Amino acid sequence: MQAYNDKQPAGVPLDPEAAKDIKLFQPITVKSVTFHNRIGVPPMCMYSSEDGALNDFHIMHYGKFALLGAGLVIIEATAVEPQGRITPRDSGLWKDEQIPALKRVVDMIKSQGAVAGLQIAHAGRKASTAPPYMGDYVETEENGGWPDDVRAASDIPFASHYPKPNALTEEGINEIVQKFADTARRADQAGVEVLEIHSAHGYLLHNFLSGNSNKRTDKFGGSLENRMRFPLMVAKAVRQVWPDHKPLWVRFSGSDLKNEGVLTKDPEGWDIDQATEYARQLKAIGVDVMDCSSGGNLSNAVYPKGDLYQVPLAEAIKRDAAVDVAAVGKIVDAHDAESVLRDNKADFCLVGREYLRDSSWALSACQELGAAVRWPKQYSWAVSGTRKAIKKQKEEEMKKEQEMKK
Ligand SMILES: Cc1cc2nc3c(=O)[nH]c(=O)nc-3n(C[C@H](O)[C@H](O)[C@H](O)COP(=O)(O)O)c2cc1C
Repeated sequence: MQAYNDKQPAGVPLDPEAAKDIKLFQPITVKSVTFHNRIGVPPMCMYSSEDGALNDFHIMHYGKFALLGAGLVIIEATAVEPQGRITPRDSGLWKDEQIPALKRVVDMIKSQGAVAGLQIAHAGRKASTAPPYMGDYVETEENGGWPDDVRAASDIPFASHYPKPNALTEEGINEIVQKFADTARRADQAGVEVLEIHSAHGYLLHNFLSGNSNKRTDKFGGSLENRMRFPLMVAKAVRQVWPDHKPLWVRFSGSDLKNEGVLTKDPEGWDIDQATEYARQLKAIGVDVMDCSSGGNLSNAVYPKGDLYQVPLAEAIKRDAAVDVAAVGKIVDAHDAESVLRDNKADFCLVGREYLRDSSWALSACQELGAAVRWPKQYSWAVSGTRKAIKKQKEEEMKKEQEMKK
């Protein structure tokens, strides 16, 4: 039977030689994983799981990004324990029974030639709330919430309408470290290729990192070294079980945005200087890529307006910690994304909300940057707007076939 080239991903320039100067569409390899372009869909909670398990919605949701050419698709924040969910409808991987549902989605993403990523997370003091599409309120026990069992560094609520958390004991901290490692092992079993630890947005790890939220007086609070202790224990434990050949990413906030400006110092709280030191230590543990976000830890944070607002954080981390980084945050325009990479400010561009608006972002981006792009083969012959591209694709395929016959 004739081979159908099922593994050829969309989102690749039809003529790689002609597109060799477009950085966004250059493949990149980290450890054993090659991404066919440098566009990723960042983790985005959909709050649509039942008892943590992904379902048909997620197959469709993540599948469409993979089908339409994103190089990397990172599945949403996935809790390491039930109390680590933001809402009762979050994704979770705290038990082996949740592996098959995740594997279905991972297989779907991989079947289209994209790289399957997963973010593992603990919501900390932002747990037991309602899905945002329902409203901004604490989820009660009757409705599946756990407002009396919310866990954090200190017993300070995120905002006045959030649950009062219980400060974790050292024993509780050690248990959560183990739960991150167990979840990483399950992710490997599900075939996940890139694992990302969620250490941003005010969730548990960030809650410990920042002096704005961590008021502990034991070895997990006070100095930067002490505040980093628990998150670094998590990274170490995960790296030990996550296969050496697979990339490990960490997403962290580069600033709490307590004051205006992403690079403004906040030495007693959390700022770029401390984030850079954190990145250095993560790198020493064997973390491969730093995914540079910001904010989420303070209910009155000052969010900058405008596109590319977090790129200065990625750029600073890349330069000062000498690591590979992903930039994220209002990357909307293809030319902007290309300039982030070309100016050496980041190695990957993650496109979030714009992907929710336009799931074929990678395909349009390539064309906007002046190169014909491969569509899913099931569509390419049928889409009249790309006749030139299709002609070129067919010629290329015929040429390849002829070469193979020789
Ligand atoms: C619906 C939604 C859900 C999100 N869920 C997560 C998440 O699970 N984990 C995470 O680290 N960030 C999450 N984020 C943040 C995004 O990953 C991204 O960093 C942010 O939206 C900024 O990028 P953008 O401007 O391209 O959307 C979420 C954002 C949105 C809009």
